[in-house]
Amino acid sequence: MQAMQQQVGAGRYAKCIEISKRVRWEIDRDVIRGRRFDFSRKFLPDGISKVHELAFLDDAERRLLSQIQGRTYANMFGLVERFISAKMLDISRDYALGDQVKLEAMLRFTDEELKHQELFRRIERLAAAGMPAGYRFLPQPNDVASVVLGKSAWAVLALVCHIELFVLAHYHASIDRDPELSELYKDVFLFHAREESQHAILDELEWRRENANLSGAERDRAVEDLIELVGAVDGLLRLQAGADAQYFLATCGRSLAGSETERLHAGLLKAYRWQYILSGTEDPRFQAILGDMITPAQSARIGAALEMVRH
Ligand SMILES: [Fe+2]
Ligand SMILES: [Fe+2]
Repeated sequence: MQAMQQQVGAGRYAKCIEISKRVRWEIDRDVIRGRRFDFSRKFLPDGISKVHELAFLDDAERRLLSQIQGRTYANMFGLVERFISAKMLDISRDYALGDQVKLEAMLRFTDEELKHQELFRRIERLAAAGMPAGYRFLPQPNDVASVVLGKSAWAVLALVCHIELFVLAHYHASIDRDPELSELYKDVFLFHAREESQHAILDELEWRRENANLSGAERDRAVEDLIELVGAVDGLLRLQAGADAQYFLATCGRSLAGSETERLHAGLLKAYRWQYILSGTEDPRFQAILGDMITPAQSARIGAALEMVRH
């Protein structure tokens, strides 16, 4: 039975390699193609940016806020891909003298995340070229990576699986469907999602493998680590929501009333918590995988932690 399951698992790694080779793209040749951003269009759709909930902003202001959030969205992926690629490189070592198909799948995954980080650095430069000075992306990739990678592998794989599932959910539910977005911005996330589909499968396989190696007590500590990671992500979101609100206030061309400024801050934090935490934890695939691994008491602890970021 166990041998058969391993066989099935091995087949899924091989399938990921096959698709990864088929969808492989290059940054300039396939994605950017000499284009620049069209700043007369939004970057992120309303379903992700939630700018439509800020009724005191006019259309041009909502478009600007969508572009600021879209710039942060690209930078945020560049950031998380630093610890994702480092973790996948670690996992690859387990297969170095073992299953060479699994080794290849994990190395391709790592290589793709290195390419994605380069893509998002290019996107930041293209966004900066057409937007007023003063934007700041505050979280530092290596500082965040050292905090994340200090947690148990189970918790890190849970976080990574959740991120790669919300990447897919955002693209298919919102970005793909909105005809008003910048064409280049849309293409970046189209090509990104094509490679992320395989990553989400590999995350699940590796997370389940790690889960099977843990004792009940170890898993209980890992759940605590995951809760701490959610808190750490929320800290980053508070920081960046504040920076993005300041940048919007400095560049929107009018001074907002005090109550509007407060609503802007709250609206950005709510949008970021939905984008980077809640849309992933509410993803049905994520819930099904996590639900297979944890007890009702552990599920309640995670639920209570998520409740803290819901308001
Ligand atoms: Fe990626
Ligand atoms: Fe990925």
